[in-house]
Amino acid sequence: MTDQSPTAPAGCPAHAGAVPLSGLEYQQTPSQLYRSLRREHGPVAPVLLDGGVPAWLVLGYSEVSYVTAHDELFARDSRRWNQWENIPADWPLMPFVGYQPSVLFTEGAEHQRRAGVITHALEQVDQFELARDCGQIADALISRFAGSGQAELMAAYAHALPMRAAVQMCGMPQLGTDTQDLVDDLRISLDAAEGDDPVAAYVRVGERIAALVKEKRERPGADVTSRMILDPAGLTDEEIVQDLISVIAAAQQPTANWICNTLRLLLTDERFALNVSGGRVSVGEALNEVLWLDTPTQNFIGRWAVRDTQLGGRLIRAGDCVVLGLAAANTDPQIWPESHVGAENAAHLSFSNGEHRCPYPAPLLADVIARTAVETLLDRLPDLVLAVEPAELTWRPSIWMRGLTSLPVRFTPVVH
Ligand code: HEM
Repeated sequence: MTDQSPTAPAGCPAHAGAVPLSGLEYQQTPSQLYRSLRREHGPVAPVLLDGGVPAWLVLGYSEVSYVTAHDELFARDSRRWNQWENIPADWPLMPFVGYQPSVLFTEGAEHQRRAGVITHALEQVDQFELARDCGQIADALISRFAGSGQAELMAAYAHALPMRAAVQMCGMPQLGTDTQDLVDDLRISLDAAEGDDPVAAYVRVGERIAALVKEKRERPGADVTSRMILDPAGLTDEEIVQDLISVIAAAQQPTANWICNTLRLLLTDERFALNVSGGRVSVGEALNEVLWLDTPTQNFIGRWAVRDTQLGGRLIRAGDCVVLGLAAANTDPQIWPESHVGAENAAHLSFSNGEHRCPYPAPLLADVIARTAVETLLDRLPDLVLAVEPAELTWRPSIWMRGLTSLPVRFTPVVH
């Protein structure tokens, strides 16, 4: 990581005391980073991405709202970027930023068409059935470790549950080996561990989803894939495969970390300790508080300026990269003048906003998945406690996604 990009053109953000938006220094307490950036630079800060690549981090609530509301000025197709000549092929952020022909990178009418299909398909998911399915998935996962009296919940529960829920919602059979292989390959391609081959896993994911689309074209069912196929917008099979992978990937990581960050809050904060197992209200409160204070998608890349423009007193050049500082915006002192961040409402920006926001039914479905995950765990293992001191929990080394490296717990073993 260099402090300044040697290749940065004159007038680019790197020339104004840009701050590296990577490295581990602030990872345990990103709110301090946001505070100091805001103090030094105001609501739009010049930052350096991995490898010293310049970008803008938007920290202000009203500035993030402005960017997301004006997609004619701040657009989503990363091919607009004026830095591509400085980006190596193996750049670590390539999986997030490299153009793919999916809904994520489309703009204008084409985006409305693709996102419309996803929205309609998700709207028809029955939330009661989803809750029932998630309850069953939760029970099956819990049964694997309930007898041992201990578990590492990130791997054994928080990541596995939303992944299974998402593939099931898309019409994969509940317990087949095929489904298990897909779940494993998705995990590897989204979140590779040492020794994994994420590229090979991603190829297998594409093949499996393509086979699913073919099956559902022949025999449609009551699932997201079939509804996308049957939508009058007439998406091609290739488009559906791309967008299904986007839906599953977009569902998995943030929902998993929403579950984990909520469990952490419930298990460590004494405001919740007294009535976790007794009061359902507190689970809802904790879920909402996490979206304000520990939101999974901390920062999101991003948008690219369509032409030269002003934002938060800065001159943004055509093709500049703009990172949405969703977590920073949620704690903007302009909206919390008393410096107390409440969790009374849902006006946070954790699902972003505007044309490309997390498509309307998705936050509701994510809430069903996360709530069922947390409640089922607390119902089944009511004396669940952390197996380490709260201070020993560590956050993953990511400035993009906020979640724990591990969440070890213990409880009275339950034998069936
Ligand atoms: C059932 C679970 C979920 C599904 C199916 C889902 C689906 C999606 C999809 C398809 C997109 C792309 C939208 C587009 O580019 O038009 C998206 C974007 C996004 N989602 Fe979700 N999502 C889920 C859960 C979550 C959760 C739990 C969070 C965070 C708390 C979240 C935060 C976001 C954000 C920040 C974006 C980016 C929006 C932007 O570009 O401005 N999502 N989601």
